[in-house]
Amino acid sequence: MTAGGAAWPRRVTVVEVGPRDGLQNEPETVPTAAKVAFVEALAAAGLPVVETTSFVSPTAIPQLADADEVARAIARRPGVRYPVLVPNERGLDRALTAGVDAIALFTAATETFSQANVRGTIAETFARFRPVVARARAEGLWVRGYVSVAFGCPYSGPVDPAAAVDVARRLADLGCDEVAIADTIGAASPDEVAAVLDVALGHLPADRLALHFHDTRGRALANVAAGLNHGIATYDSAAGGLGGCPFAPGAPGNLGTEALVAFLGRHGIETGVDGAAVARAFTGLRAGTGDVAR
Ligand code: COA
Ligand code: ZN
Repeated sequence: MTAGGAAWPRRVTVVEVGPRDGLQNEPETVPTAAKVAFVEALAAAGLPVVETTSFVSPTAIPQLADADEVARAIARRPGVRYPVLVPNERGLDRALTAGVDAIALFTAATETFSQANVRGTIAETFARFRPVVARARAEGLWVRGYVSVAFGCPYSGPVDPAAAVDVARRLADLGCDEVAIADTIGAASPDEVAAVLDVALGHLPADRLALHFHDTRGRALANVAAGLNHGIATYDSAAGGLGGCPFAPGAPGNLGTEALVAFLGRHGIETGVDGAAVARAFTGLRAGTGDVAR
């Protein structure tokens, strides 16, 4: 399949972020056992990567305060990667104690978002990351880096593609295996995705890049198509479209995994993911939590 340029990849890696990005944005806290069952059901549905939880300050994200228990309790399937978010060395210590196989660092394309999210400048986040990456790599962990608000910031508005890509390049230079360029607030249009990728692919190969879209304005799948046009073969999504955006009350959350898998399947792109099983995992989460997972 081609659309406006390069051939689309024949196989895509779907990164499930529901248990982390989804649940951290839900108003109610899901019981630990329901989170564990959710992660296990998602891996059983064929997702090759299930971002499991976040070892951040429990004051910052109370919904994921049980990260240690969740990461320890999950039954890990061979061949599946279970990254966890880590903001600093303290987070890495917790993650290593819990026996994780992969971590994800996160910084931002804008100084205002960085301050609001992690109480530090972008440069300060890199200073925190340096020892984290060195130790993580020494322990054999796989490392992802996120560039939040790469297509628009709730505090400072439009983002210069060069600024977003500069942060992505620095994450790669630091030693991240993969860099996820994230539309945290669902602001991107396909043209803006193309503009960022045109710059990014001048510095990084397509196979080290991932795209992370929220469906706030209903454009997530169109943005995936823009990514496919540029040869990007890794996309984040959340079962049931979990994770309403805190900056857009009432708006849809992450791109839904079921919708992403169905879209890719219609275009003949393999994912290895059973969309019906993902939908059952989401229904199971809802059953285990009252009505938190709308
Ligand atoms: N795990 C658990 N607790 C942690 C921690 C970690 N990795 N890192 C710091 N803390 C605790 C400290 O012990 C301290 O607790 P106290 O208030 O009870 O004393 C508190 O968090 C503040 O610590 P400090 O080192 O001063 O950090 P900070 O206030 O500058 O916050 C972060 C920095 C990054 C730890 C915090 O802003 C954070 O966790 N943000 C997460 C944001 C997030 O997850 N956003 C969504 C993902 S994009
Ligand atoms: Zn997100």
